[in-house]
Amino acid sequence: MTRGKYVAFEGLEGCGKSTHVARLAERLGAVATREPGGTVLGSALRSAMLDPANTSLSPRAEALLMAADRAQHVAEVVRPALEAGRHVVSDRSVYSSLAYQGHGRELGEAAVRRINDWALDGTWPDLVVLIDVPFEVLAERMKKRELDRFEREDRAFFERVHAGFLAMAAAEPARFAIVDGTPPKDALQDAVAATVAARLGIG
Ligand code: TYD
Repeated sequence: MTRGKYVAFEGLEGCGKSTHVARLAERLGAVATREPGGTVLGSALRSAMLDPANTSLSPRAEALLMAADRAQHVAEVVRPALEAGRHVVSDRSVYSSLAYQGHGRELGEAAVRRINDWALDGTWPDLVVLIDVPFEVLAERMKKRELDRFEREDRAFFERVHAGFLAMAAAEPARFAIVDGTPPKDALQDAVAATVAARLGIG
């Protein structure tokens, strides 16, 4: 049995990841999932972490809760699917923790990588599709939403997160594909599919 491929979409809120996760998964016949919240336990953790009323959550607790969500998600959803030969397409992954908790919350990428390496137990994404959209466009899209706990962070936080994603993409070019998220969805969908086919030989 050939092991499936694990593709993760990353980017800032409002970049359009969710649409492309659904479209790519349909195209590949893959399992579509997400972090946080890809399991029953994860849904509870997600509600707690995104609730704006939860103002006193410490950055370290947040990092550990994200890692706990991920450990359960990988054990329950991702690894069994890959081992059964299915591809997995996930809305966010360990790289969100490295960017948001490591860079955004300034816990340090190395420390966040250590806890997540243990949580993942060897199952890292094969390809990370980073959808890049200018801050001004994202800010416009955010105006239409009811904001969660992360979305209420200031511009400096998102600049650290964004710089973190770009630095990781530069450090691991074989694992990352940066896609310009400004074209219309259908054109972007084709660009994403072409990138996945070129990098992983699937689709
Ligand atoms: P998500 O539902 O993907 O938000 P959106 O659809 O608005 O992009 O993710 C929820 C939030 O959780 C998002 O603000 C990013 C944050 N997050 C982290 O801070 N660390 C993580 O490890 C993950 C997976 C998400």
